[in-house]
Amino acid sequence: MGVPVYLQNGKMYGTVCAIDPEPYAFTQDEIEVMERLSSIFAVILENATNSSCNTVDDKLMRLEKLALLGQLSAGLAHELRNPMQSVKGFVQFLFEDQVDNHFRDIVLSEIDQMDNLIHDFLLVTQPTAPKKGHYDINEVVCETVEFIQSKAALHNVEMSVSVDSDKFDVYVDRIQIKQVMINILKNAIEAVEESGKVMINVSTIGNKEVTIEVVDNGIGIPIAVIGRLGEPFFSTKEGGTGLGLSISKRIIQEHKGTISFENKKDGTKVTITLPK
Ligand SMILES: Nc1ncnc2c1ncn2[C@@H]1O[C@H](COP(=O)(O)OP(=O)(O)OP(=O)(O)O)[C@@H](O)[C@H]1O
Ligand SMILES: [Mg+2]
Repeated sequence: MGVPVYLQNGKMYGTVCAIDPEPYAFTQDEIEVMERLSSIFAVILENATNSSCNTVDDKLMRLEKLALLGQLSAGLAHELRNPMQSVKGFVQFLFEDQVDNHFRDIVLSEIDQMDNLIHDFLLVTQPTAPKKGHYDINEVVCETVEFIQSKAALHNVEMSVSVDSDKFDVYVDRIQIKQVMINILKNAIEAVEESGKVMINVSTIGNKEVTIEVVDNGIGIPIAVIGRLGEPFFSTKEGGTGLGLSISKRIIQEHKGTISFENKKDGTKVTITLPK
């Protein structure tokens, strides 16, 4: 027996079938049961179609709202930079003839901190296209290590670099790759206790890509947290913005490379690969 399933708009959706392998005449009661079943199916189908439409519509609406919110906050962040720069200029001007002024220095350093935060925020919301060139990766890494050395010394952290080739050119945006290295090294330094160690290994096995490993003997990354690394604003640090890894991940992806995190017995290993 086949009973049609009609939707509210009169369209036939399909049929509900009852099959018996033996020749058999269905009774009136059985036909009525099947008809009731068919109307129940129609209601279920109608609800399922409507609710899946709503979910998609809701999701789209939420995404549009998020995109708008992103645009608005990026615009706001951008506009905040101009008045901040003029506040900075006036503070410098007002205290021009005072060499040592503790309060002026605090105001200026707070303004710089706000400016850095806005700069990082804009990098996430409005990423700039990489300006690539051929650069020796060993040089880029060593320059970054030199740059971050003062922070390491402040925390009494020992940094060591090992490279396995004299020169290995990669096609990258030098500034962006340096920024990634600074973010990763900063995290490593912040993760190790006083007198900790951070090792950087650059290897170019196979001559096709370069692998940069940053290994620290710090607190390690909790398993529950590993999946969330690189999520914008995810941070377990007091005062951390949670933008460092999110920016780094995006930059590495744009360079068609990879970045991965490994929890070691005592510390963390971050591995970056970049194609030649
Ligand atoms: N080497 C590491 N050892 C332990 N935890 C780490 C390490 N690197 C990253 N993490 C974890 O990943 C989180 C996110 O790092 P991310 O650099 O994005 O932000 P952050 O360091 O908290 O803040 P900031 O934006 O100032 O860098 C950190 O808060 C920390 O929990
Ligand atoms: Mg960080």
